[in-house]
Amino acid sequence: MSFDKAYFDAGITRVGTQCEKWDGMIAAAGDPEMIPMWVADMDFPSAPAIQEALREVLGWGTWGYTISGRKDAEALCAYWARRHGVTIAPDEVLMSPCVVTGLRLAVRALTKPGDGVMINPPVYGPFFGSVRGNERALVESPLAVGEDGRYRIDFADMERRLASREAAAVMFCSPHNPCGRAWTREELAELVALCRKYGAPLICDEIHADFVFEGSHHSILTIEGAEEIAVMLCAASKTFNVAGLQQSSIVCKNPKMLEAIRNEMDAAGVKAGNAFALAATRAAYTACDEWLDGLKAYLVDNRDFAMAYIAEHMPKVKVTPLDATYLMWLDCSALGLEQQALLEKLAAAHVKVNDGLFFGEHGRGFIRLNIGCPRAQLERALAQMKTVLG
Ligand SMILES: Cc1ncc(COP(=O)(O)O)c(C=O)c1O
Repeated sequence: MSFDKAYFDAGITRVGTQCEKWDGMIAAAGDPEMIPMWVADMDFPSAPAIQEALREVLGWGTWGYTISGRKDAEALCAYWARRHGVTIAPDEVLMSPCVVTGLRLAVRALTKPGDGVMINPPVYGPFFGSVRGNERALVESPLAVGEDGRYRIDFADMERRLASREAAAVMFCSPHNPCGRAWTREELAELVALCRKYGAPLICDEIHADFVFEGSHHSILTIEGAEEIAVMLCAASKTFNVAGLQQSSIVCKNPKMLEAIRNEMDAAGVKAGNAFALAATRAAYTACDEWLDGLKAYLVDNRDFAMAYIAEHMPKVKVTPLDATYLMWLDCSALGLEQQALLEKLAAAHVKVNDGLFFGEHGRGFIRLNIGCPRAQLERALAQMKTVLG
């Protein structure tokens, strides 16, 4: 099978699959015409090798307790070595249900109640909840944005907050959702140096690692010294459209930190042993490279098309440069609309996007547009957006 433009153009019908993006939206909005450009999964079929692996498990006809661990970790290690040049040993990997589970476990294991945990907003909403929901203090070091719309880390601000002990740990998103940045090695090295200087654990969410469009993803684990302080969270879920299976991994090269997280998992009774999820994830990590390469090429075309379309037809909307992820961060502040009015206009045009405020107060005036869909759907959504934002 060829994973070319025609394959991804065909997409897949998701209505009636209990998916949040379509079924959840239609139920909430009561508008069957609404185009879902929100929840961060894609309107493409998962790779054939994954479907085959799931059919095989289905064929077992019985699904008792499942072995989870070594084989799964080995598949992950081989994948990260092959795709991202990272050396990980199976003993450095823990299986976890979701990446957000991993974020929360890491916060609980590596900090104490009352400690400050620093994040860089605007950032994925559950970062806020992972800190606040665990009786830790939320410390915000906002990303700075340049004239060109590109976001960068305000290292001086981060250092001030670490030096004063306002923050005891850092939770970081790499590549960054929703700002679309693929961080450079230099930026990551500076971040690692800062965390080491102040003895702060660095919890790094790399769920979007496979969607770096130019150059390569630099895992935090490839940065010198990171092995002392970093925890890396990853999953096949975003990349291969298997988020509904709920499987992720926690990787840590510091044995003491890994042990602390393992203890926290045991205390909370967190296990990852879903036979379907594990089989799908192993297949994703071993037999889907070609599918992924085709997908990335398709997404780059979608990105370039959307950027050009918005520049031409919605000149007041500023598109944040998208190095990575299939989530486009649009600055609509020049339209002068209140956030609610902005979303209502889009809803009236039958387009569902993510509210910028999901990513914190720094997302006011913004929306996030998911371009992980067939081109025809993207074209339709943009044409309808134009009628209210153009
Ligand atoms: C940065 C980031 N982390 C985590 C998640 C969710 O991962 P999971 O469903 O495995 O909890 C998302 C989903 O959009 C995300 O963007």
